[in-house]
Amino acid sequence: MKVLVVGGGGRCHAIVDALTRSPKVDKIYCAPGNAGIAAQAETVALKDTDVEGLLGFARDHAVDLTVVGPESALAAGIVNRFRAEGLRIFGPTTEAARIETSKEFAKELMMRHGIPTAGYRTFDNYEAARAYVHGRPLPAVLKYDGLAAGKGVVVAMTMEEADAALRDMLLDDKFGHGRVVVEDYLEGPEFSFMCFVSGERVWPMPLAQDHKRAFDGNEGPNTGGMGAYSPVPFISEAERNDALERIMKRTAAAMVAEGVPFTGVLYGGLMKTAEGVKVIEFNARFGDPETEVVLPRLQSDIYDIFSAVADGTGAAELRWDDRAALGVVMASKGYPGSCEKGFPIEGIEAAEADPEVTVYQMGTARRDGRLVTAGGRVLMVVGRGETLEQAHEKAMQGVRTIRCENLFYRHDIGAAALHK
Ligand code: AMP
Ligand code: GLY
Repeated sequence: MKVLVVGGGGRCHAIVDALTRSPKVDKIYCAPGNAGIAAQAETVALKDTDVEGLLGFARDHAVDLTVVGPESALAAGIVNRFRAEGLRIFGPTTEAARIETSKEFAKELMMRHGIPTAGYRTFDNYEAARAYVHGRPLPAVLKYDGLAAGKGVVVAMTMEEADAALRDMLLDDKFGHGRVVVEDYLEGPEFSFMCFVSGERVWPMPLAQDHKRAFDGNEGPNTGGMGAYSPVPFISEAERNDALERIMKRTAAAMVAEGVPFTGVLYGGLMKTAEGVKVIEFNARFGDPETEVVLPRLQSDIYDIFSAVADGTGAAELRWDDRAALGVVMASKGYPGSCEKGFPIEGIEAAEADPEVTVYQMGTARRDGRLVTAGGRVLMVVGRGETLEQAHEKAMQGVRTIRCENLFYRHDIGAAALHK
């Protein structure tokens, strides 16, 4: 089989890596890919949002299945277009992806179907939103109703901060012209629950936890994610089963009932609150960096799973390694703000000489034969072991083996789970 993976970050590196373990797959293309992915797949110089280019490529190269990584490609309508042309593709339609791209759509769906989430109100008028927020306790949770490159959610600790965010979102149209969802503030540890979903059929993956803040101790600005680990010991089997039934399966069924069946990976960003597990957000794709610690634990053939989901028929059996995986992101200094690129990276092979260490490349390029930094997040060093402690030790050993003068990382990935 020939598979085309669309995307180019660490998540796609992990997907490509999992595909290399499938005996059914003999050719993997990745568009645009990156320098790390190029070692395991043939990279194709097409942007992930170039739907017509990707369609032409898939046709010309007789690709059997296309797998979509990033939300930008979904929002660009890649799944609708491929399906209309009779090409097999793994991912949700633009309409189903609204569970991620429209906060309001997601909230209304949850309310109609009794899926536990924070209470909310939606505004399109700055003055009305401001008056509402000022009449409520802090912190204020403000969510822009559309894609905003991870910057559309503000948890404001002061009224000044809330005002500034509302101004950005509703007066200055910083992310485009849109609406704002104002949510009740919830408290508790967060975790990520990804499931393969094909209509009403739901196959759960192991839980993972992301680390959004840039620096140790959960300090600093929000990022795309600075590290992750799996499993998540502070969520009991009963809580996980409850989240599977009342949140993930109910949401899949709700989407079918509303005429927008979901196909692909449904990602629940969940919080364990005093009143039970609730939804913070949904994503319509694999999480990044969660995928880099979940897929290495998959023992089944991922091509069979992608096929069963994309075709809506056939069985998929999912077996998972009980052992733990923990990954530390190495990011360019300055990230998530602007950062310099082009710094040489050395030591990946040495780090991977240990069979318990895998380095997924997030933002790298090859220049004059040398591997160099090419993004905000550059590498994700994943360690594995019997326990999270051992996985953490392996990941840190890998991180210390890598040499690059412009990278920083967190030392405390997994701390919430390690010191229990
Ligand atoms: P998101 O970009 O939607 O993942 O949101 C970013 C972060 O904002 C989440 O990971 C939470 O930590 C926080 N957040 C979002 N919604 C709420 C809420 N209702 N209550 C408390 N924190 C929230
Ligand atoms: N790790 C969070 C996300 O993928 O959106």
